[in-house]
Amino acid sequence: MKVAIVFYSFSGNTKRMCVFLKNKFEDRKNTVELIEVKPVKEIISFFGQCRQAFSKKEPEIGNADIDLKKYDLSIFASPVWAFTFAPALRSYLKKIGDLENKKTACFLTCGSGAGSNKALSELENILREKHTHILFSKNLAGRKSKNKNFLEDNFNTLFEIINNDE
Ligand SMILES: Cc1cc2nc3c(=O)[nH]c(=O)nc-3n(C[C@H](O)[C@H](O)[C@H](O)COP(=O)(O)O)c2cc1C
Repeated sequence: MKVAIVFYSFSGNTKRMCVFLKNKFEDRKNTVELIEVKPVKEIISFFGQCRQAFSKKEPEIGNADIDLKKYDLSIFASPVWAFTFAPALRSYLKKIGDLENKKTACFLTCGSGAGSNKALSELENILREKHTHILFSKNLAGRKSKNKNFLEDNFNTLFEIINNDE
């Protein structure tokens, strides 16, 4: 199975979880590509980031592989920013085409959890509009990104679903 993990991470929580997942997939002898999405001009102020996210801006992003059709499973991950997901992932999703019948999964990392369900639904809706089959979707506390047991427990269902699907 070929897996793509597409993510944006500002302070590292989301990235750490993506790397954990990459290692888990590699333990199963899957091929994994980590696709990190970064804006060409990254905003670093909290209020600037909130403003950009809240107004659903789509900043220009650097080169990232957008041909996801070659993967069997594509996973999308981002922090929650201002009750939605990060603008860089929004830009990436805009660039990729339809993923008809392709398997996807998504997760968001959050702080207090405010707006995280809304953010996750929004991401799921975009994936649905691309006609993908969403296997797994979850909000996770960003502060637990270094906790292996937490990650094992929370991603366990993803691997159960994949095992049953194969
Ligand atoms: C600009 C900004 C806005 C945020 N907005 C929210 C929010 O609306 N709800 C929430 O639960 N957490 C919010 N957070 C917390 C992050 O989602 C959380 O710390 C996340 O794990 C950071 O991921 P990262 O380390 O991959 O960048 C926000 C953080 C930042 C920097």
